[in-house]
Amino acid sequence: MQVHIAEHPLIAHKLTVLRDRRTDSPTFRLLVAELVTLLAYEATRSIAVREHAIDTPIAPMVGVELARPKPIVVPILRAGLGMLEGMTRLLPTAEVGFLGLFRDEETLEAVTYANRLPDDLSGRQCFVLDPMLATGGTLIASVEYLFERGARDVTAICVLCAPEGLAACEAALGGRGELKIVAAALDERLDERGYIVPGLGDAGDRLYGVV
Ligand code: URA
Repeated sequence: MQVHIAEHPLIAHKLTVLRDRRTDSPTFRLLVAELVTLLAYEATRSIAVREHAIDTPIAPMVGVELARPKPIVVPILRAGLGMLEGMTRLLPTAEVGFLGLFRDEETLEAVTYANRLPDDLSGRQCFVLDPMLATGGTLIASVEYLFERGARDVTAICVLCAPEGLAACEAALGGRGELKIVAAALDERLDERGYIVPGLGDAGDRLYGVV
């Protein structure tokens, strides 16, 4: 498993505003989209391409285009949905699948309640969108699901991650396929309720309000 924590002053600046409890939902949504676009640049560094011949106004040349099968972007409902626009801005031709998981607040285990994904993901590069890698339960369940459907190359894009979540992912998923985690920051720890410290609170609530 590879972990990449983005080191960039612009990302750190946007993340600070995102974390601030006074930031309202519209601004929060905008900042998440911008952050994801910046993270997606890193996350797609090894996206598969193939040669593509074109003519410029001056001369023929061989450039590249995204390889087939198309990559698939998988936002984890509900909070991952807030990351979709920022991702498709950079990768407009990717297909989008959905996986609905929520965290049982008592057991902290991930529970699946919805999915819309192709049955066969072999050969597909998958980009999972999940803003908060806390205990790792949701991400582990999601990546296991993708591995079971044949995916072997999965990149998770997270806004924040906790050391406990990274360790859990390594223990559960390390060696089962290629997993890369790209995040804007690695925070200190989890609190007793499983929230990331200092974190930003409940990402779903801050994106969409408490429902
Ligand atoms: N999910 C969140 O939205 N926030 C956390 O801090 C942890 C999990």
